[in-house]
Amino acid sequence: MNRANFSSRLGFVIAAAGSAVGLGNIWKFPFEVGTNGGAAFVVLYLFFCFVLCYPIIVAEIAIGRNTRLDAVGAFNKLGFPKWKIIGLLGVLCSILILSFYNVIAAWVIGYLFEMMAGNFAIGSEFSAFTSDGMKIGIYALIFMSLTAYVVSKGVSKGIEAAARFLMPSLLIVMLCIIAYALTLPGATDGVKFYLMPDLSVINGSVVYSALGQAFFSLSLGMGTLLTLGSYLPKQANITTSSAMITVTDVSVAFLAGLLIFPLVFSQGLAPTGGEALIFEALPKMFENFGETGGVILGSAFFLLLAFAALTSTVSMLEVPTSYIVDEWGISRKKAATIAASLIFIVSIPSLLSSGAVDGLTEFIQIGTSGQNISFMSLVGLIASDTLLPIGGFLIAIFSAYVWRSKNLHKELLAQNVEVSPIVLTYLNISLKYICPLILAIVVTITIFEGLFGIQVL
Ligand code: PHE
Repeated sequence: MNRANFSSRLGFVIAAAGSAVGLGNIWKFPFEVGTNGGAAFVVLYLFFCFVLCYPIIVAEIAIGRNTRLDAVGAFNKLGFPKWKIIGLLGVLCSILILSFYNVIAAWVIGYLFEMMAGNFAIGSEFSAFTSDGMKIGIYALIFMSLTAYVVSKGVSKGIEAAARFLMPSLLIVMLCIIAYALTLPGATDGVKFYLMPDLSVINGSVVYSALGQAFFSLSLGMGTLLTLGSYLPKQANITTSSAMITVTDVSVAFLAGLLIFPLVFSQGLAPTGGEALIFEALPKMFENFGETGGVILGSAFFLLLAFAALTSTVSMLEVPTSYIVDEWGISRKKAATIAASLIFIVSIPSLLSSGAVDGLTEFIQIGTSGQNISFMSLVGLIASDTLLPIGGFLIAIFSAYVWRSKNLHKELLAQNVEVSPIVLTYLNISLKYICPLILAIVVTITIFEGLFGIQVL
């Protein structure tokens, strides 16, 4: 089969990092840290990313590159058709995750327009803003169409090109804001909250969220990396590429926290503000730069955030699209349109669940908190906090026991790529024992606690 490739190994790393870096780092990570007690959550998140997720990233990419197929076809090609359940689960997950992710991206576009108009007061009007279902619906439609357009153009041209420009620009703007935020009165309280762990806050639901956040942020467990890996040239080193992706993603999340918490504390906001956190804290800060400065900096920030979201939505839509292209033999353009339309329809209840429709906003009571959560939060809880770790668990089991380490190693060492024996041994032990064990325990306990409210520990 003729499959387009990335232009180089760096091209792949940039595209995969572009997929990983997105709203998960800049919007979700800070608010999860805030609602889950601060620095202790950060510690758990780092542990999960490096110890648990890294080996699974390697395995997912290796399966993709070996088979050069979509997330479902890959398992058929390796000769284990039953395991294509991993790919099907991934397709389902990508539909669910994109359905709510696109809503947040719509908020970002809305805020971009507000910043361009110099309306900094929008920071305190967040709930009125998200309640306007019609407006959010239009922004969401724009964003989904943009995503479908990029996907229909093909993978290397799309994500790689966007991410190449995005990463450095985003980093520069973030570093400037951090430098400023740290000088604000009260900033040190924010830094303390963010970096000085109080381990007593850790409970089942904190672990649940940290694990889900690690998978979500790394785009792991739903076949995104497998699909991107299927375009990776044979001579590329998967283990070092995966390490670069992990480090980049974790660094951007870490910086986002360092940017937000000084702002939140200096403005006297509560760190537990949830989904509203960055949307409330940022406009107020941009206002400090005066009319022109604020418009320029605020617009630049939300524009870059929209780009970061786009490189992620593109990689999500790529999963169902390449499944439809490879398995059903439909053209890429049609496949992207079909998948995007379906996901947009699925996203409608989510986009109405932040104030527009009461029944969806206060949708259901789950877990131990005793509070109702919105339809959109429920989709996030099921898809990213539950299905992604389950996908990761299955990938670890598959690569260690079904496909087997021997074949995994062969793929990692293809074309005489050098990989240190220590790394290979670590991957072996981790995929065979550490990942399945920890994931099985954490997923079981946390599903009981987080979803059904049954205290296990
Ligand atoms: N990792 C992306 C982010 O942090 C979200 C994502 C999840 C992208 C799953 C692809 C697959 O924003």
